[in-house]
Amino acid sequence: MPPHPNIALPRLIAHRGLSAHAPENTLTAVRAAFDIGCHWVELDVQLLGDGTPVIWHDPTLKRCSDGHGRLSRLSMDEARGLDVGSWFGDAFRGERMATLADMLELLASLDMGVNLELKVGRNRSGTELADTVVPRLLETLPPERIILSSFDLAALHHARSMADASRLPIGILTESITQTWQSRCKALDAFSVHTDWTRLTARRAREIKDAGYRLLCYTPNDPTAFARHWRWGVDSAISDDPACFAGIAPPPDL
Ligand code: G3P
Ligand code: MG
Repeated sequence: MPPHPNIALPRLIAHRGLSAHAPENTLTAVRAAFDIGCHWVELDVQLLGDGTPVIWHDPTLKRCSDGHGRLSRLSMDEARGLDVGSWFGDAFRGERMATLADMLELLASLDMGVNLELKVGRNRSGTELADTVVPRLLETLPPERIILSSFDLAALHHARSMADASRLPIGILTESITQTWQSRCKALDAFSVHTDWTRLTARRAREIKDAGYRLLCYTPNDPTAFARHWRWGVDSAISDDPACFAGIAPPPDL
C-alpha cells in the first residue's frame, strides 16, 4: 500500500449532498448535510460545453432542472438561468446549478470532506475532466478531506499521473467486485473501493479489508438491511438519508 493521508472517514456520507431532503448536488443539499452533523458528502462533477466544471449527476437537464437537453451542450451563462430546485419542491425554487468552484469554496468554509465522483459521459473525455478538476480540488481542500472516485478507470489513471497518493486519495467505483479488483487497485495506488451495497458479499468485503483498503458502499437507505454490512467491515455508507441510520449499530457519527 502506498502512503495515503490519514483520513478520518465517517461511518455516514451524504449521497449527492442530503439528497433525500434537498435537491441533489446543490449547495443547499451540502449545507443540509452539514446541519444534521454529516461532515462528508459524495458529489458528481461533469463539464459543461464551455468547459466549466459543475456539480451534476445526469447527462441531461430534464430530471433536475427546468431546462432540457444535454449538459454537455450548455454554457455557464445558460446554466445560470436554470432553476435546479423547484423540481424537488417549492421551498427550493431559485436554486442555481453549483459550479465546482462554488462547491469547493463551501466545503472548505465548512471544513467538510468530499468524495468527488468524476462522471464521464458517453463521448466525453475522462482525462479532460480530470485535468480540469484535480488541480482545483487539491488547491482548495487538504488531502485528508478528499476521495476522488470514478467508474472510468482512464480518468482515474490520468488523475493519479497528476498527483501522488499522499496528495490525492483515489477510490475505485464498481457496481460489483470482480476478480480483478486488487490488480486495479494496485495499478492506481487506490485508497478505497466503492461498491453497490446490494451486490457486495462477505467474502469480497473481507478480501478488501484484509488487503488494507477502505470499503465504502452506495447507496443504502435501509439501516436494518445494511446491519450485516457493518459486520463485514464496511467503513462507510454513502446514503441519501444518513439520519435514518441514527440509533442503529454500529454507533453512527450523527
Ligand atoms: O459514488 C457512489 C454513487 O454515487 C455512484 O452512483 O449514479 O449515484 O453517481 P451514482
Ligand atoms: Mg455519484
